[in-house]
Amino acid sequence: MPFAGRDLVSITDFTNQEIEAVLDLADQMDSALKKGMEIELCKGKDMATLFYEPSTRTRGSFERAMHKLGGTVISFAEAKVMSSAAKGETIADTVRVLKSYADIIVIRHPWEGAAKVAADYADVPVINAGDGSHEHPTQTLCDLYTLKKEKGRLKGLTVLLWGDLKYGRTVHSLIYALARFGAEVLCAPLQGLDVPGPVLRRIHSEYNYIPERVKPDDMTSMIGEVDAFYIAPFKPYNLALWSDFDSSPCPEINIREALGKADAIYVTRVQNERRDRPADTESEGGYPTVDSKFLSQLKKKTLVMHPLPRVNELAYELDDYPTSVYFQQAAYGVPIRMALTALLLGASSIEIPERTGVSGQVMAYSKYKQVIGVKCPNANCVSNLESRYLVPKLNMLKRNVGEPLTLRCTYCDHETHPPYIASSEWHQGLLKNKKYYSSDSFMLDRIRPENLIIFDSEKEAQAHGFMPSKRTAKQRNGGDAT
Ligand code: NCD
Repeated sequence: MPFAGRDLVSITDFTNQEIEAVLDLADQMDSALKKGMEIELCKGKDMATLFYEPSTRTRGSFERAMHKLGGTVISFAEAKVMSSAAKGETIADTVRVLKSYADIIVIRHPWEGAAKVAADYADVPVINAGDGSHEHPTQTLCDLYTLKKEKGRLKGLTVLLWGDLKYGRTVHSLIYALARFGAEVLCAPLQGLDVPGPVLRRIHSEYNYIPERVKPDDMTSMIGEVDAFYIAPFKPYNLALWSDFDSSPCPEINIREALGKADAIYVTRVQNERRDRPADTESEGGYPTVDSKFLSQLKKKTLVMHPLPRVNELAYELDDYPTSVYFQQAAYGVPIRMALTALLLGASSIEIPERTGVSGQVMAYSKYKQVIGVKCPNANCVSNLESRYLVPKLNMLKRNVGEPLTLRCTYCDHETHPPYIASSEWHQGLLKNKKYYSSDSFMLDRIRPENLIIFDSEKEAQAHGFMPSKRTAKQRNGGDAT
């Protein structure tokens, strides 16, 4: 698919081949910049940068990128207070206005799903520069570019993700990309800040990664009070994390081996602004600062990466290490964002080969319309915060017989398991048979997907004329359908 006119909301919006095309063009941009060439591909074009959250690197590099392409920038660095958002304007209205002033919009917002709303309402390309704790796809492009530059490949690399893997949006986009390119992912989250379940389920269902916990071994003596380590290699090894270490079917890899495998450590800060209260790393299992002592546990050539800004999690003594690439990662933001902007504006075109293989596919979930009263469970999802005009959009995940009914929010990827179901074809069309059932009853497997109606509550079901069935409790293994 050509790039011109498209949005980048999630890193999964691009196939592997498309990501590689952006990285290749960024390489050309980088060389041109180094030679001091005039690039001017976007002369006469305008970019709006709409930032509702602080930013140094992302906004700075987008704006620099547009200037280097010969375009102009309308900058809303403090959109929360300096745009009409302060007067209560919605995201949809703001971008519908901005699209008349700009050819491309870059948005950063504290709510998950905000960039998707902007993309839905602006008919110019929209780039997600970070939406709450959801995703940050352009940081991932910088991360992948850095890894490729330094290591020459992505497939088969082992990347250790370190820190706040729950609220850190950069790691969510990076996990999807690493899984798709066949890298191995080791996760070392701060206690309670694990990779969210929906992210893991997605890499499992789409890319065959099965998370399992790594054997704790002597990790405490080695590196201090780290809560847990996980590893998620590509099939056929299928190791890695997750909740239940003791029943892990494959615990043969231990921490020492896991650390010894890492080609890169990707350190992240605790995202205090996304938590109800600031982290107390002492009481939350503590967390060692990544310093020269820690690095001595890793391979000599392990890259030290960080999306920045850093707080206390990465020692300044590492800044001069030859394998520390975090400032380089930030510097690559300019050629990467130049390439992306030029492609989305149609100022540069690249032939993308046909999609091949699972790793290049974007998985389509079935859109489900007959969802009554079910909302996204994430209080920070844009669909709940701008419910004045947005209706919840939930996709039903593919399920095997016996698995729970799961809906995933198309704005923020959070999942919910709605409690009640009914069929639009009630038995023999008799009103007395118009019944609703518990979603964990056997009826879930009996109702054809095209007839399935989903309710958030018994009240909703009854308001739509359905009566409780005798069997609204767990009935998966039998019983009649009345
Ligand atoms: C990150 C972000 O905003 O998510 N910063 C960035 O864009 N490089 C990481 C962070 O703030 O911790």
